[in-house]
Amino acid sequence: MTSGGDAPGMNAAIRAVVRTSVYYELGVMGIYRGYAGLIENDFIEMNARSVSKIINQGGTILKTSRSPEFRTVEGRKKAYENLKERGVDAMVVIGGDGSFTGATKLHDEFNFPVIGIPGTIDNDLACTDYTLGYDTATNTVIESIDKIRDTANSHNRLFFIEVMGRDAGFIALRTGLATGAISILLPEQDIGIHDLIDILNRNRATHKTSSIVVVAEGDANGGAYEVAKKVKEKYSQLETKVTVLGHVQRGGSPSAFDRVMASRMGVKAVEGLLEGYHEHMVGFIQDSMKYCKLSEAISGTHPINEELLRISKILSI
Ligand code: ADP
Ligand code: F6P
Repeated sequence: MTSGGDAPGMNAAIRAVVRTSVYYELGVMGIYRGYAGLIENDFIEMNARSVSKIINQGGTILKTSRSPEFRTVEGRKKAYENLKERGVDAMVVIGGDGSFTGATKLHDEFNFPVIGIPGTIDNDLACTDYTLGYDTATNTVIESIDKIRDTANSHNRLFFIEVMGRDAGFIALRTGLATGAISILLPEQDIGIHDLIDILNRNRATHKTSSIVVVAEGDANGGAYEVAKKVKEKYSQLETKVTVLGHVQRGGSPSAFDRVMASRMGVKAVEGLLEGYHEHMVGFIQDSMKYCKLSEAISGTHPINEELLRISKILSI
């Protein structure tokens, strides 16, 4: 199943899970719409041909959802009964930390074997350097900001661009560095408006005419519109514009990186279940596949890379 926010690379992972199951002569079923479909018994028999020509497609052919019912013990009991009735021995969940919290409960309450594949553009899980969709999403953001830069330059404007990531700043940090943003506002770092004003003053002194500020949606200042408003109050002569990139970041054909990682994770997930990894997630660490407990994966996130932040400041002067 795929669950939570969709992410480019989920289809490539579904393909890998289905084909690896067929390779090992296991029966395989897809569950539609995440935990909602699990509770409502929305399953489909799959075979190698069910996943033809999807490796390059964004979104998820199994659909996804957020299911309030699965948060209840009654909901999870219904889900478990459906799995038993259909003779399912184990489940692969492709999703983010919420989906893995649910999967952990299914395992702990009913001793049901589950393995997770990290799929979220936010990259906010521990035990993996990357999650599926993050690479593609950041490339989409970069393409959009490059276009915004053309118009920013032409008009000598200051743009505040808000990117996704929920309460994590990984998308903002990577794209801010890659697009030469003068400042990157992250939930993990408390950069106040005063610091930003200092940077703008410095840029004026060195005749920088247009600038990009990347704001993570979870930034403590309250998002790009709020930041732009506060800057305008202090710096009224600047022409400012705000762009919230939104769900464009979630779509599109997965990058080579995401397709390859999804393929490796899908194979490793099925092999992990066969080897007895029954409450685990497949992680990608330094180009190797590693298993870690789901509880550990959702216990936090890997820290932001301070070096990226440091060099972005040096390079944007
Ligand atoms: P993501 O997996 O991308 O983080 P969500 O946080 O929306 O997305 O979680 C996806 C689904 O996982 C939720 O709709 C819910 O069904 C299930 N889930 C999330 N948190 C819990 C929880 N604490 N207990 C049980 N199920 C949960
Ligand atoms: O978790 C992925 C994500 O796109 C976050 O970056 C964002 O905060 C959230 O999902 C948006 O959720 P929805 O699609 O339900 O609006």
